[in-house]
Amino acid sequence: MVTIERAGNIALIAVNNPPVNAISQAVRIGLTEAVETLDSDPAVEVIALYGMGRTFIAGADIREFGKPPAPPFTIDVCDTIEQAKTPIVVVMHGSTLGGGLEIALACHGRVALEGTIVGFPEVTLGIIPGGGGTQRAPRLTGLRAALDLITTAKRIGADEALKLGLIDEIASGTPRDVALSAAGAVLTGAFATRRVGALDVTPDPEALAETAAKLKASAPNLFSPHKAVEAVRASTLPLAEGIAAERALYLECQASPQRAGLVHAFFAERAVEKIPEKGTPPRALEAIGVIGGGTMGSGITTAALLAGFPVILAERDEASLARGRATIEKNLAGAVKRGKLTAAKEAEILASALRITTDLADLADTDLVIEAVFEDMGVKKEIFATLDSVMKPGAVLATNTSYLDIDEIAAATTRPGDVIGLHFFSPAHVMRLLEVVVARETTADVVATGFALAKRLGKIAVRAGVCDGFIGNRIMSHYRKVGDYLVMDGASPEAIDRALEGFGLAMGPFKVGDLAGLDIAWASRKRLAATRPAEERYIPIADRICEAGWFGRKSGQGYYVYGEGDPKPNPAVAKIIAEEQAKAGIAPRNFSAEEIVDRYMTAMISEGARVLEEGIALRPIDIDAVFLFGYGFPRTRGGPMHYADTIGADALVARIAHYAKEDPYFWKVPALLAAMAKDGSTFADRNEG
Ligand code: COA
Repeated sequence: MVTIERAGNIALIAVNNPPVNAISQAVRIGLTEAVETLDSDPAVEVIALYGMGRTFIAGADIREFGKPPAPPFTIDVCDTIEQAKTPIVVVMHGSTLGGGLEIALACHGRVALEGTIVGFPEVTLGIIPGGGGTQRAPRLTGLRAALDLITTAKRIGADEALKLGLIDEIASGTPRDVALSAAGAVLTGAFATRRVGALDVTPDPEALAETAAKLKASAPNLFSPHKAVEAVRASTLPLAEGIAAERALYLECQASPQRAGLVHAFFAERAVEKIPEKGTPPRALEAIGVIGGGTMGSGITTAALLAGFPVILAERDEASLARGRATIEKNLAGAVKRGKLTAAKEAEILASALRITTDLADLADTDLVIEAVFEDMGVKKEIFATLDSVMKPGAVLATNTSYLDIDEIAAATTRPGDVIGLHFFSPAHVMRLLEVVVARETTADVVATGFALAKRLGKIAVRAGVCDGFIGNRIMSHYRKVGDYLVMDGASPEAIDRALEGFGLAMGPFKVGDLAGLDIAWASRKRLAATRPAEERYIPIADRICEAGWFGRKSGQGYYVYGEGDPKPNPAVAKIIAEEQAKAGIAPRNFSAEEIVDRYMTAMISEGARVLEEGIALRPIDIDAVFLFGYGFPRTRGGPMHYADTIGADALVARIAHYAKEDPYFWKVPALLAAMAKDGSTFADRNEG
């Protein structure tokens, strides 16, 4: 993993730990031994360190987090490097992040290849730099710039790093060649070296106070960024004292549940790519067709255009097409405003990449068609039958349905193997999640094409099976009922929103309802009324709100009243709630924020367990990814199934049994959870393999 090469009085140390040269224990041992060996060799006058493969060290080995610390630590390696008598220069390339950057800062001179990215991503993983980064970075860049880098986790290019003083030079060539020439320059005196730890830091109390205040306002519930400020504050002390302060703060962060949640979220983003179809080559993807110019269809078209695809949008008449095109134009203009697209590119897309039509036959030569019309099985079947007759052989036929049976849609064609669900989340050009719904006959290369599309669109694809609502909406329609039950039993909608926002959800469920429009769920309740089981507890409050014509934000009121300033709880809704409680003979009681969260999360986890039992999701971590990237679930909690493990299956089973005393129909123990409580296993166990 770490090898030594000698060339006269120059020695090279190469790190080779694919794929990203993470600084695992073996690398730490190897580096320490290499430096000690070479430093005690009188024939070696200069040492140059570089990384093999696509990047210099991309950071700590995140897989070691949460395990017992394994010496030597990165901080020890940095100390060994900095204290070496022989000058050590480093050549950075690729992504030199976290522990990789800390190793570089401990070296006596730093060269970065063109295109190198550097940064301290630690706070995104719930920790702070623990290899002296909070002490050495301020010695090079000044306290303010170091605080900014460390607390925001931003990744910067070599040019900016040079300007900040974080690196000494930018060069081009292979890492090994540049290492040799940098070492040669040290020998001739052309490249001056120094010990960063020996430099002083100018105190900057204003920068510390400003950053602390900013974080208090923007990230009051995050643990590690505040600790990072404390660590940087210690950088004006002598190095050894500052390092000791950093170490103590680092260990506090490592022990925090937020670290576990954030690291889980990091791996969730990557784990979802591991599907049975991995390795199957996807079909060619050059041109895309979209059917339906409503919010979803326009959003999907925008996403595809932004990713560089030519798109043909089909609608049933000219007026709908014009509306669709206008929405796309608005979306693209928004992208220009946010700096995601240049005005020139926008003009080019509108002039040549986007075409519109009212004739499905015009889609015939596209490689993949995404149907995004309204949720009506009859209409969808008709569209798929037409697609079957017009589309070129081998085209992928996708539906963006949110809950309809894709097997039934596929059966309307003579090529069900080509049919798949691609369930986007609104706004489709912004939200990162894409559920790739695999129907009974979908072929492996069509699944692989769904994943390839997601990658091109910059989205996170999660493989799901067919059921009502797939992974996300299926679980959501279950736990959403808990909100209604809690309201009926005495918790106000705003208390519920507050409790769940306190837990970390981006927005409470009643605010979300108001934002999405209460009429949507109302229509679905009316549709399902005939088949609703008699045992199911039904809460009529939401229906009464809709009957009054209050659909949420778009009609000025819903659970909240919207006007100037913050939305206010709607007193008319409070009156409806009180009337319904009286009618049902319910004496409202108090619910603590903790009980609200517990009930809500227990319902989410229970339905998640059922989704796993039925094989709708491959692994618990896939469910976590759906909620992290599609539903605003807090990253610090890792996702609902990761959170479930922090409670434990036996405690969850006991909770459900307790709630079931009030409502045995809703609160049932899923078989999987019961089995887990019995054998002591966890959802994490089911993520392996
Ligand atoms: N420790 C352990 N594994 C890591 C890792 C790390 N620091 N960084 C990446 N990996 C793994 C990924 O999990 C992935 O594994 P998989 O192939 O089994 O899924 C593999 O390395 C490749 O990573 P990926 O992110 O898919 O590659 P990329 O080329 O798109 O991006 C990086 C490379 C380095 C930019 C990106 O992986 C990254 O940002 N890593 C995190 C860096 C970090 O936070 N370091 C500081 C830790 S304190």
